Amino acid sequence: MSSHLKALVLAGGRGTRLRPLTYTMAKQLVPVANRPILHYVMDQVADCGIGEVGVILSPETGEQVKEALALNPWRLRFEWIEQDRPGGLAHAVKVARDFLGNTPFLMYLGDNLIGQPVRDVVATFEAERPDALILLKEVANPRQFGVAVVDGDGRVRRLVEKPKDPPSSLALVGVYCFSPAIHDVIATLAPSWRGELEITDAVQRLVEAGRPVRAVELTGWWLDTGKKDDLLEANRVVLDEWGRREIIGSVGEGSRVDGRVQLGPGAIVERSVVRGPAVIGANAVVRDSFIGPYTSVGDHCRVERSQVEHCVILDGSVVEDVERLEDSLIGRNTVVRRAGDNHRALRLMIGDDAEVAL
Ligand code: DAU
Repeated sequence: MSSHLKALVLAGGRGTRLRPLTYTMAKQLVPVANRPILHYVMDQVADCGIGEVGVILSPETGEQVKEALALNPWRLRFEWIEQDRPGGLAHAVKVARDFLGNTPFLMYLGDNLIGQPVRDVVATFEAERPDALILLKEVANPRQFGVAVVDGDGRVRRLVEKPKDPPSSLALVGVYCFSPAIHDVIATLAPSWRGELEITDAVQRLVEAGRPVRAVELTGWWLDTGKKDDLLEANRVVLDEWGRREIIGSVGEGSRVDGRVQLGPGAIVERSVVRGPAVIGANAVVRDSFIGPYTSVGDHCRVERSQVEHCVILDGSVVEDVERLEDSLIGRNTVVRRAGDNHRALRLMIGDDAEVAL
């Protein structure tokens, strides 16, 4: 299937909520089940049959984003678009104006993970041809999102960004389809209270102008990977739904690898138990340890004499002599090592290049 839409993927901005990880890493590149979130986004874009993709980059993390997409297994045609400051989602569209031309487009926030094919949403947009099609999901905390009020037949009546007093509990998911009419309303926007040009306000202007704006409610899961717990939850859901068994590395005698476990090339499991769903990256070593469900161990990590469960450990980190590590997110090249005699479970969020001895 090929689509005549273009895609605009937003991989700029400032990842303040995932600090300290995002001091050194674009938030769209934080891995879930050992793959950058942005790769799942590109899976979706390619699955829509879209070929041309504008990628919004920030000056700080643009190079690493380009690098992360360099292999390009999707064979997408990327156009790199630098946004000099995080001026808002509508500002990003403005910056991409030349790339987008007068082509309708799919806009996708690079830190959103969605558990159902976006292809169906694009098909609805192409069939009905509204000026905007937004994706909504019922949430418990609508104040943290853009919120929409929709009438019975999916027509959007009103939208508000991060309302103090939410008029509904339907949040805007970070996936939108637009006709070129969006450019005219963006041209009339002023910055919001947070100093950004809001795409939510732009869509509200379309509604006010009487233009057709439709909503589709997402039935599958949606994960906004903003914070530590969101990221652990994303890791859990993705391993649960998409985890598979694929043992490439070596499993030594006296070890057991149960269920849906991916063991990367060059990885070694010795005198250990790994219970899926879990992923263990390339050249990682697991020795005299237990790796429990919902754990992702990055490339070149080493876990020895430890029990780890429901954790995300990024590339190059070491966990040693830790009786039990749970619900933790560990940055790159860190060392977590038990020094004393502490039998309590640990709950941590540690940034890149840190070393913690407990
Ligand atoms: O995740 C869904 C929410 O995304 C929606 O419910 C909101 O209506 C929408 O405004 C947006 O809210 P956030 O405050 O969570 O957006 P955030 O600043 O996190 O930016 C979303 C993505 O876009 C992120 O990957 C960074 C990128 N971005 C952001 C800005 C502000 C850019 O590339 N350029 C920017 O200027």
